[in-house]
Amino acid sequence: MCGIIGYVGKSEAVPILLDGLERLEYRGYDSAGVAVVSPSNTLQVVKTKGRLSVLREHLDAQDPLCGTIGIGHTRWATHGEPNDTNAHPHVGSDGKIAVVHNGIIENYLEIRASLERKGIPFHSETDTEVIAQLLEYYYKKLGNIMNAVYAVLGRIEGAYAMGILCEDFPGQMIAARKDAPLLIGYGEDGNFIASDVTALLAHTRTVTYMEDGEVAVLTGDSVQIYDRERSPITKERHTVDWDVSAAEKGGYAHFMLKEIMEQGEAVRKTISPRIKDGRIFIEELAGMEGYLEGLRKICIVACGSAFHVGMVGKYVLERLLRIPVDAYLASEFRYSEPLLGDDTLVIVISQSGETLDSMAALREAKKRGSKVLSIVNVVGSSIARESDITLYTWAGPEIAVATTKAYTTQMALLILLGVYCADMNGRISEEEYKTILADFLALPEKVDEVLKNIEAYQKAASRYFNQNSVFYIGRNLDYALGLEGSLKLKEISYIHSESYAAGELKHGTISLIEPGTLVISLATYAPLLEKTRSNIVEVRARGADVIVVATEETAPAVKDQADELLVIPNTHRLLQPVLAVIPLQLFAYYVALNRGCDIDKPRNLAKSVTVE
Ligand code: F6R
Repeated sequence: MCGIIGYVGKSEAVPILLDGLERLEYRGYDSAGVAVVSPSNTLQVVKTKGRLSVLREHLDAQDPLCGTIGIGHTRWATHGEPNDTNAHPHVGSDGKIAVVHNGIIENYLEIRASLERKGIPFHSETDTEVIAQLLEYYYKKLGNIMNAVYAVLGRIEGAYAMGILCEDFPGQMIAARKDAPLLIGYGEDGNFIASDVTALLAHTRTVTYMEDGEVAVLTGDSVQIYDRERSPITKERHTVDWDVSAAEKGGYAHFMLKEIMEQGEAVRKTISPRIKDGRIFIEELAGMEGYLEGLRKICIVACGSAFHVGMVGKYVLERLLRIPVDAYLASEFRYSEPLLGDDTLVIVISQSGETLDSMAALREAKKRGSKVLSIVNVVGSSIARESDITLYTWAGPEIAVATTKAYTTQMALLILLGVYCADMNGRISEEEYKTILADFLALPEKVDEVLKNIEAYQKAASRYFNQNSVFYIGRNLDYALGLEGSLKLKEISYIHSESYAAGELKHGTISLIEPGTLVISLATYAPLLEKTRSNIVEVRARGADVIVVATEETAPAVKDQADELLVIPNTHRLLQPVLAVIPLQLFAYYVALNRGCDIDKPRNLAKSVTVE
């Protein structure tokens, strides 16, 4: 999605803005631009369709854009096609005020029509231009820029994170936020705004997260934040513990590969602080024993891969806690009038902590009287801040659009949570508790072991990268896992793929299997192995080629049915998906590599989906 960076201080702004925008590239974008106020107090804007390299070419082809205050933006088109005019920053008709904006202004057509009736011409098709034009209109009318900002915020409806420059106030940048992330960074020789902390890591790790309704005024040596009523407020500063190198490729060809390879360490960091003296201890749940024991239902809500973690969670938590557990797509849940109450726990899972549908589902759950526990990777993100309980995954920054280490850490943490609650409610035997705990402790090393088998994944990928269509089948946890394997493949390689509960295939989809169709069969769930084997036999009988993912325990029973066999180590049955997803991630990665795809930035996709 769109990215924002802003700087005001002593240094030249353009290099800082371009560096920040480069670090935001991973979010997905189709155009980019910068605005700077020059030393002679003139607002200058350069923006273009395409990658940042095109913006750089435009900047190089003209007189240098000088100035120590500026805003920059990467746009992911929503209103109006990606082109130079629709790119941000947008300026008012007098060219005095520039705005960058993330989010959507829902009533923009109505405001645009009213300004057009007043004779104000519009140039772009965007909702953002309405903010710039309205700001300039109110600025002229009220003669005060802050009055104008508050007047605009009072009229626009929807979501926004915005950065504003006005050439009449050449040392001042204004920022405002509602329902879209925005943070302030405090640097040594200036101050920053950004939509994402990774844009700031090279300059500062001291940040303040803006809340809905807040407005900030930044100069080179001061930051003042105001609340909705325009009263000045003092806010906490946080230190981000990610460092710059965590958000760099570190010698890997792609962020995705780097992040896949980091999974052992990420899982270790996520689970080991929560295991003390041979017991699971989740500090964030201390004192909540009574509440957890009284739970009658759990709803897991998320989007995309995080929803697939929820599907694993459904099987695992239901089996451990013996209460109904359902996984919902956040985009459906929020509009489904869900049956919730104080005996239902809603678990929201999100890497970014900013996904709009997940955020809306969270608010809906709270409105209906349920507590919300979130599993989030980005510290201080909106979902983390609005939840009653937040459990962080310590995966570090995830830059590749296709999630990998966030997925595995979310899954490990959700299972750990399940075992913790089952122990508290007396629903797990001490023997099983000890076994699963031992397997949890061994999990990071086993993840590293699976990662070593790289040649097997490369071989399977080079044999099958030319497929038109791929089917994933599995039962129970393997079915939940297939959903993720299929998503990984289609999002980065653009091969059509589907995932089916193996027993469901013959109720329709098997008609699509013909000689040469690739079926990836997940056969790690030992209790249903014989059933899964029968399903593999069925597709082979119709000519399918089959890649089987099996464990050391299950492999002997299925190896005669496999064109390619990918074997992973044994672990506790409930933890198996944490290991089994890795061959699927690497298969997808190498298929995409063989096909020459833009792996870290797949077409049409964005890292953090902050629109509906
Ligand atoms: C797929 C992927 C997406 C995200 C989804 C939710 O690889 O990354 O499906 O899982 O957009 O994002 P978060 O977890 O940030 O809420």
